Amino acid sequence: MSNEVWRLARKPPAGWPVAEDFHWQLEDIPEPGPDQMLTRTLYLSLDPYQWGRRRSGAEQPGDICHGRTVSQVVQSRLGGYAEGDIVFNTNGWQAWGLTGANIDVFGYMFPRKIDPILAPISTAIGVMGMLGLTAYAGLVVQCEPKPGDTLVVSAASGGVGQVVCQLGRLYGCRVVGIAGSDEKLKYLKTLGVDAVVSHRSPRFAEELQQACPDGCDIYFENVGGAVFDGVLPLLNVHARISLCGLISQYGNDDDQDPRSLWRTRGNAAFERNRVAVHDLFVGNFVAEYQDRFLEEMGGYLRAGDVRYLEDKRPGLENTPAVFGQMLAGGTFGKTLVVVSEDPTLSS
Ligand SMILES: NC(=O)c1ccc[n+]([C@@H]2O[C@H](COP(=O)([O-])OP(=O)(O)OC[C@H]3O[C@@H](n4cnc5c(N)ncnc54)[C@H](OP(=O)(O)O)[C@@H]3O)[C@@H](O)[C@H]2O)c1
Repeated sequence: MSNEVWRLARKPPAGWPVAEDFHWQLEDIPEPGPDQMLTRTLYLSLDPYQWGRRRSGAEQPGDICHGRTVSQVVQSRLGGYAEGDIVFNTNGWQAWGLTGANIDVFGYMFPRKIDPILAPISTAIGVMGMLGLTAYAGLVVQCEPKPGDTLVVSAASGGVGQVVCQLGRLYGCRVVGIAGSDEKLKYLKTLGVDAVVSHRSPRFAEELQQACPDGCDIYFENVGGAVFDGVLPLLNVHARISLCGLISQYGNDDDQDPRSLWRTRGNAAFERNRVAVHDLFVGNFVAEYQDRFLEEMGGYLRAGDVRYLEDKRPGLENTPAVFGQMLAGGTFGKTLVVVSEDPTLSS
């Protein structure tokens, strides 16, 4: 048996991902050394930030493409982990990987064991993982929602957005969700979102204004660009913004920092209305908030107060194509690749 691996083929020259950016290879399955374990990838998370890493050079040609994963331990020489355990780790775009001593991970993506009883294991790279925490940190910690606030959420049906919308509802906000397709807008209504608007509508700005008769108290920014332009005139005095992401700008070919351009564009409205703008980086919230968040979100999921839609695509070999679709809005819900069979579904 061989390991199947996607490596970065080149520094992406421009724009959005194409097949030539990635290289598929069969390799030996690695042997775990002291204080390491070998795990088999079950689910691979596809996230917009992965494209930023590749374009910025943080990921180098020849590197295994980075990605968060849910995996099963096959062989362990690492204390606290035994064969069969299900773990959150960062195997990346490969079928087997090593975790433990001398295996580089971002500090805040430390591996942890997952209890399959608490929630479906795939959610550890979604609502019960970094994406759920992103939603919680941006909305609850940074923007402090109050009952009656109007909350506007962009990319509202995606991995982060659908959690923001439901947390907003639970905290008493009037929630306005922005998404691309009719199917996504219908889904948002089933989550209890009060009003929905398509950013693809030629009358987007006008429809958003109609959906926010009392203006906007909280904006959860995932997108930037024309969507941000539509929100700017609606911001109320003392509005709060969590600047989570700017996906519409991730294919830009200029060398400008999209976050500083975004701030410049919004500055007059921010100053006029004394808007509090919070830059969000989920890694800053793991140490202090992850445990509290997992407990709160676990309760919501068990009670049925939060639902979570996943778009599970089979086959590691399809990863680059699915990655491109995810960035362009062609997936629906949290995007993940099913790399090998989830043993908790058959037991
Ligand atoms: N700050 C942090 O620590 C942190 C952590 C995680 C994620 N993020 C950010 O959060 C955002 C959402 O991430 P996610 O993982 O939940 O992705 P996602 O929402 O599941 O997928 C991206 C979605 O963005 C929408 N989109 C793409 N291009 C667009 C455009 N030009 N205009 C409007 N919408 C567009 C598409 O939805 P439609 O079909 O509805 O257009 C697409 O489905 C991203 O910006 C990401 O970088 C930040």
